[in-house]
Amino acid sequence: MTAHDTIIILDYGSQYSQLIARRVREAKVYSRLVSWSTPAAEVMAYQPKGFILSGGPNSVYDDGAPTLPDYVIDSGLPVLGICYGMQLLARRFGGKVGYSQHREYGPAILTVDQTDDPLFRDWRLENEPTNLQSPISNLQQVWMSHGDKVEALPSGFRPLAHSDNSPFAAAADVARGYYAVQFHPEVVHTTQGAQLLSNFVHHICGCGADWTPVNFIDEQVALIRAQVGNGRVVLGLSGGVDSAVAAALIHKAIGEQLTCIFVDHGLLRQNEAVQVVETFQQEQGMNLIAVNAVEEYLEALAGVTEPEQKRRIIGEKFVRIFEREADRLGQIDFLAQGTIYPDVIESAGKGKKDAHVIKTHHNVGGLPDDIDFELVEPLRELFKDEVRTVGTALGLPDSIVWRQPFPGPGLAIRCLGEITWERLERLRLADAIFVDELRQAEMLRAGTQQSFAVLLPVKSVGVMGDGRTYQEVIALRAVTTEDFMTADWARLPYDLLAKVSRRIVNEVAGVNRVVLDITSKPPGTIEWE
Ligand code: XMP
Repeated sequence: MTAHDTIIILDYGSQYSQLIARRVREAKVYSRLVSWSTPAAEVMAYQPKGFILSGGPNSVYDDGAPTLPDYVIDSGLPVLGICYGMQLLARRFGGKVGYSQHREYGPAILTVDQTDDPLFRDWRLENEPTNLQSPISNLQQVWMSHGDKVEALPSGFRPLAHSDNSPFAAAADVARGYYAVQFHPEVVHTTQGAQLLSNFVHHICGCGADWTPVNFIDEQVALIRAQVGNGRVVLGLSGGVDSAVAAALIHKAIGEQLTCIFVDHGLLRQNEAVQVVETFQQEQGMNLIAVNAVEEYLEALAGVTEPEQKRRIIGEKFVRIFEREADRLGQIDFLAQGTIYPDVIESAGKGKKDAHVIKTHHNVGGLPDDIDFELVEPLRELFKDEVRTVGTALGLPDSIVWRQPFPGPGLAIRCLGEITWERLERLRLADAIFVDELRQAEMLRAGTQQSFAVLLPVKSVGVMGDGRTYQEVIALRAVTTEDFMTADWARLPYDLLAKVSRRIVNEVAGVNRVVLDITSKPPGTIEWE
C-alpha cells in the first residue's frame, strides 16, 4: 500500500477532521482520514503507527452514537482522542463523561500541569500575566468546542493539563500510549496545536518525517509507470491547479503517452482558454487537444437556473465530449484526473449519517457509471497546499501553481439564474476588472485567497447620465482563508473597492450596481451558486 509511516484518523464527523490530517502531514507524516465505521481489515492494511480519534457532533450518550472500534485498542498502538474522541476513550476505560446541553465554544487558557510530557515538548508556554511573582510558564491558548466533558478519568490515566472549564483538558495513560485532549489542537486558534500533533506522531507513535514532495514525486512516477505500462493516457485539463499538476506529474512519468484534452466550455474566466493552450502546448510541450465546445454547452444550459442541475449538465457533457475526443484518438487505456484528497473525502462523506456534509462540490463520484476507462489519479492523497508544493517542485510557473481555486463548473455557478453568452460576458468583464485591480494593489495572493465577481439575477433601478436604468447587480466576493473550509470576508481597502465599483458600472454594459459580500463561512459559503 504505502511505504510511509502512517497515522490513521478515525472520523467521527467533526468539521475539523480534515484539518487533523493536514496538520499531521505538515509534520511530514502520512495520514489518512477514514470513517470510524470502516472495517478493521481495511484500516489495518495501512499498517498504521498510531490512531487519532476526531471530534464529532454526537454525545456518547446518544442512541446509536458512533463508538470506538475494538481493533483500535487491540492493536496496542498509541491513540490520541480529540474532544469526542477523548470522551470515547474515557468511557471505554471506565471514566465518567458528564452530559451537557451547553456547548463551550471559543478560546480558553490551558494550564499545562505536566510540562515534561512528550505531548507538550517544545511548547512555548507563557506566564500568568497578572502574577509576575510566579516563575512558572505553563499557559497557552487553546480552542474549545464541546458540550459533554470528562468528569472523572479512568484508572491508569492522569491529568496533564486543565482549563477553567475543563479539569481534564488533557490526560494520558502514558504506559499504554493513550492520550486525550478536550480542546482542538488542529485549529489555528490552538496556538501550539500543530506542535502537539507533531509531538504525538513523532515522539509517541515514533513516526519518521518521510512525507515530502520530492519523495512523493519519485514514488508516484514509479507508480504511474507501473500502472500504465505502454498504455495511452488522456487527461482533462481545466486550467486549474489540480489538473495542471497532475498533467505535469504524469508527463514526467510517461511523456508522449499522455494526451491532454482541454474543453473550452465557455464558462472560463477572461483569457483563460488562451493561457492554458500557451502554457501546456507551447511552454510545457505536451500533447494537447483544445476543443471549442462553447455552443454545445450554451445549448445544453439554456433556460436552466437550478444550480445542481447546472452542475449535472456540465459534468455529464464534459464526460461525453471527452469520450468523443478520446475515441478520435484511437486506443486509449487510461483516464487521468486531478482528483485531490479533499474531493475524495467529501465524496466519500456524501452518504454518511455521522458526517454533516454541507454540499457536494466535486465531480468525483459524479462520473456516470458507464465510463469505461481505468483511472490514473496521482494526487488523490494530497491536500491543496501539498499539490502546490509538488507543482513547484515539478517546475510549473507560479502563475499556474498559485492560481486561485476555480470551481469545475466554472462561471456557471457564479452566473446566478439563466446562463446566456451575454450574461457570461458581463460577468467575465466585471470579474476581470476586480481581479485586475486586486493584482495592481498587490492583494491577489496576500490580501485574499479567493476573489471573484458574481452576477445576480436581480435588476434594480439606477440613474446614468440623464436616464433611469434598470439593470443587473454584480456582487464582489473576496475571502481570506487557510483551507477553504472556513473563511472570512477580506477587509479590502475602501479606495480599492470604490475604484472597482466605478469601473464595473462604467465599463460593463448591463450592470448598474455593485455590492460587496460581507458574509463569513460558515454560515455562508464562498461561492454563491
Ligand atoms: P464553498 O462555496 O462550498 O466552496 O465555500 C469551497 C471551495 O470549493 C470551491 N468549489 C468547487 N470546486 N468544483 C470544484 O472543483 C465545484 O463544483 C466547486 N464548488 C465550489 C470553491 O470555489 C471554494 O474554493
